[in-house]
Amino acid sequence: METISIVLASRPEGMPGREHFRIEETDLPEPEENQITLRVLFLSLDPYMRGRMSDAKSYAKPVPVGGVMEGEAVCEVLQSRSEWFKSGEIVRAMTGWCTYAVVDAANVRHVDTHGAPTSTALGVLGMPGFTAYGGMKVIGRPKRKETVAVAAASGPVGSLVGQLAMRAGARAVGIAGGKDKCDYVKSELGFDAVVDHRSPTFSSELASACADGIDVYFENVGGYVWDEVLPLLNVYARVPVCGLIAQYNGPGGSASDRLPANMSAILRRSLHLRGFINTEFLETHYHTFQKEIGPLVARGEIKYREDVVEGLENAPEAFIAMLSGGNFGKLLVRVARNG
Ligand SMILES: NC(=O)c1ccc[n+]([C@@H]2O[C@H](COP(=O)([O-])OP(=O)(O)OC[C@H]3O[C@@H](n4cnc5c(N)ncnc54)[C@H](OP(=O)(O)O)[C@@H]3O)[C@@H](O)[C@H]2O)c1
Repeated sequence: METISIVLASRPEGMPGREHFRIEETDLPEPEENQITLRVLFLSLDPYMRGRMSDAKSYAKPVPVGGVMEGEAVCEVLQSRSEWFKSGEIVRAMTGWCTYAVVDAANVRHVDTHGAPTSTALGVLGMPGFTAYGGMKVIGRPKRKETVAVAAASGPVGSLVGQLAMRAGARAVGIAGGKDKCDYVKSELGFDAVVDHRSPTFSSELASACADGIDVYFENVGGYVWDEVLPLLNVYARVPVCGLIAQYNGPGGSASDRLPANMSAILRRSLHLRGFINTEFLETHYHTFQKEIGPLVARGEIKYREDVVEGLENAPEAFIAMLSGGNFGKLLVRVARNG
């Protein structure tokens, strides 16, 4: 049997292009004892993958040039040499960007989405949803009547951050790019206010939407959005620093070196900025996340949106577009249909 993979052809400087990816066909090995063969159904495309394309020092190893792009997928078990999995079961695993994979059973997890579609195991009930949950529970800790602001508000992390804020009785202010995303955040997700960061009057619109200042800013983007948020942060504001997508392809959209202004604000307003990677909360919060959020998603009380691209060969373009807001909802690639 053959597998088709997308490999890293070369390391990009700045924004990646199609030329940094290559499609390869290789023979799939037979599974050994305690390994299973998977057919990829949905592949998750996530902003962190931009970091794996670079060899700059980070919290995780880079993908080697010529290596298969890293990624998590929802898959069907085709063949199992493990007592824990049976053929036909739906699981999730770090298969990488490919059509079929042979993986160690120890690294595979059963999918339990409480009746919600299995694709949610990569979005609102998967790593991005858990990131929102962990960052809000441990660092954001929203209280009644507080103002919580979040950018990339229509995406899988931001949309759950805002909904968790509202469930805690706080006001949710979303920041998103363009009218369609802003309409969705306000009308479908029910945020109290939304501001378009592409608007020429973004700064004054954000200030009016956050008339009482910001108590929790869940940082997803950095760049010029952070520049506009900083003056609005209240004394003792909490800032879970989750992602800086505006800076992943270079220095970001900030007009100047903000370090002196940042340090001064942190000191004068006693700000609490705390970076995190979701895995640090796995042991303490993953079980409660599944138990608490799974049924809410299945009952439609927590909303989510998916942006599904058809065919593995279209993954590079979709991924590149996401880095400048081309996705609308959790970005997934449908690699194959179940059954
Ligand atoms: N720390 C962790 O463990 C962890 C885990 C998962 C994700 N993250 C981070 O969380 C953030 C959100 O992830 P996600 O999966 O939910 O992504 P997402 O919202 O599906 O996609 C990224 C969004 O970022 C926005 N964006 C892109 N460039 C921007 C810019 N220059 N300025 C402002 N906004 C920009 C775009 O939305 P608009 O068009 O609305 O601007 C884009 O759709 C990312 O930074 C990601 O790296 C961190």
